[in-house]
Amino acid sequence: MCGIVGFVGKKAAAPILLDGLSKLEYRGYDSAGLAVRDDNNNIEVVKAKGRLKVLFEKTNGGESLPGCVGIGHTRWATHGEPSETNAHPHVSGNSVDDSDVIGVHNGIIENYQELREKLIRHKYTFYSQTDTEIAVKLVDYYLKKYNVGPIDAIAKAMVRIRGSYALALMFKDYPGEIFVARKESPMIIGVEGGETYIASDVPAILKYCRSVYYIDNLEMARIKAGNVEFYNLDGDIVEKEVTEIEWDVEAAEKNGYEHFTMKEIHEQPKAVRDTLNSLVKDGRIDLSGIGLTKDVVNSFSQIQIVACGSAWHVGMAAQYVFEDLARIPVRVELASEFRYRRPILNPDTLVIVISQSGETADTLAALREAKSRGIKTLAIVNVVGSSIAREADFVLYTLAGPEIAVATTKAYSAQLIATYVLAIEFARVAGRLTEDGAKELIDDIYTIPDKIEKILDDKDRIQWFASKYSNAKDVFFVGRGIDYAISLEASLKLKELSYIHSEAYAAGELKHGSISLVEDGTLVIGLLTQDELFEKTVSNMVECKARGAYLMGLTSYGHYEVEDNVDFTVYIPKVNPHFQASLAVVPLQLFAYYITVAKGYDVDKPRNLAKSVTVE
Ligand code: AGP
Repeated sequence: MCGIVGFVGKKAAAPILLDGLSKLEYRGYDSAGLAVRDDNNNIEVVKAKGRLKVLFEKTNGGESLPGCVGIGHTRWATHGEPSETNAHPHVSGNSVDDSDVIGVHNGIIENYQELREKLIRHKYTFYSQTDTEIAVKLVDYYLKKYNVGPIDAIAKAMVRIRGSYALALMFKDYPGEIFVARKESPMIIGVEGGETYIASDVPAILKYCRSVYYIDNLEMARIKAGNVEFYNLDGDIVEKEVTEIEWDVEAAEKNGYEHFTMKEIHEQPKAVRDTLNSLVKDGRIDLSGIGLTKDVVNSFSQIQIVACGSAWHVGMAAQYVFEDLARIPVRVELASEFRYRRPILNPDTLVIVISQSGETADTLAALREAKSRGIKTLAIVNVVGSSIAREADFVLYTLAGPEIAVATTKAYSAQLIATYVLAIEFARVAGRLTEDGAKELIDDIYTIPDKIEKILDDKDRIQWFASKYSNAKDVFFVGRGIDYAISLEASLKLKELSYIHSEAYAAGELKHGSISLVEDGTLVIGLLTQDELFEKTVSNMVECKARGAYLMGLTSYGHYEVEDNVDFTVYIPKVNPHFQASLAVVPLQLFAYYITVAKGYDVDKPRNLAKSVTVE
């Protein structure tokens, strides 16, 4: 949940590091810092609390830090409050001048207390509250205790550390070099034009480099200008294949939109179309490319979907689609619950993990829990080469492109499409859908991008309605079946972007307690896309209206009778009811976005959040 960058080359390092950090701010943004080594081998460290622009101004865009070797960090605080002292880089002494090791870290050192006590016994003192300072000092301790080089010292520290880390370290006696180590937290290393780049994620170096290496767990690397050597924990050289990044730079930029969030809401038609096209050939589903042959699909008798946040909401919607079309039992679990509950998994279960980043710690742990029991795993992920992608038995990539805004939109929509296609294939293979029946559903899914475009064309009306609710204190989203799953996602969008409290409720559940929260003027938004549940949900909404609620109904064109009961209606195009989440979510993403912009909040980087939760 922090962003790391590094550079060794011929150009000035600081501007490149700052530019890279600006592409990683979505990973954390409460403080930032740089350490740059000049040609006289002096290392200077500059840190700043607040957004990256504070550091940018403090270093005059990096010009005040000459040198061609450096590391940088943007922080999402885990240990120690956001402050300049706690900002990275951290040093092995009390300041950079009396230090032999300087480093940045993404992750959590779980046994930091015991390590801190150990180092105190060896006369180390600490200036910060961070676990990172402990890790840097631990490397320094082994460097001196065993009088070894950086790789050996780091390896000894790695054996001792429990937790997760991506570390980038500079050593006073090793000019022109950076050393990195990784366990769980993501890190890539790019080599191009005689220069070498380090980053937590692709967008940070895409402008400079497309040839990247993925460092694996418990591996280290020694980085020089235009060269990288990988080592395992025994200090043996590890050979690695280079990967060419296909993304285009524009895809990682705003392209004229005011915010990444709005850009990515508008990229949903393309994300849906591209994901669908990757799974359907000549109108027929073809999953052979990911290994889900007919026999493999037939070998599963139940499905367990495991994810976090919005990805879990995708699972909640997918459950209805899978069970209705394929008549296969589907259970949906929060990854943070699944991994600790000693789940009961029959051998013929397929565990599907869904993750945009492919780095979410709880989801990765859940994947490993399933694999440790010999259960087959399928990952639906958006980031190529991510940890979850590399560890699952089967990988289905969503083609949403880089999603920069912290609140997911296009990746969520692409994930929905992936689950629809899987459900149709499972139903077809099980004989519950004929070839023609499957094709008919696929053809209907192909109408979704244009229908999303139609919704986006009408966004001004949503903006008008949202402006009336920027001061709301509580908002309820209610629905039944798939409409309940949509409510979950709509409520999270509103909460995480606008900081307005919201509840998503199964409409039939309201009267069992929470309806007591409804007061005069409470906004209740009813999802009404499932025809056979329409009347039931309207009744639940009217119960709220009787207690003072203001009702907004979201339903398909044609259901005009809804206006007899609600105060404001949003209509969306019709699609097969199994797929309505893909359309209904769009106005509600816009609703959350416009309220947030009206409140003047940073819609792309909401407070307290980070794009990828790579810690527990
Ligand atoms: C989505 O808007 C949230 N930012 C968050 O809930 C996210 O969906 C969750 O952290 C899972 O992330 P992942 O898809 O990268 O695993």
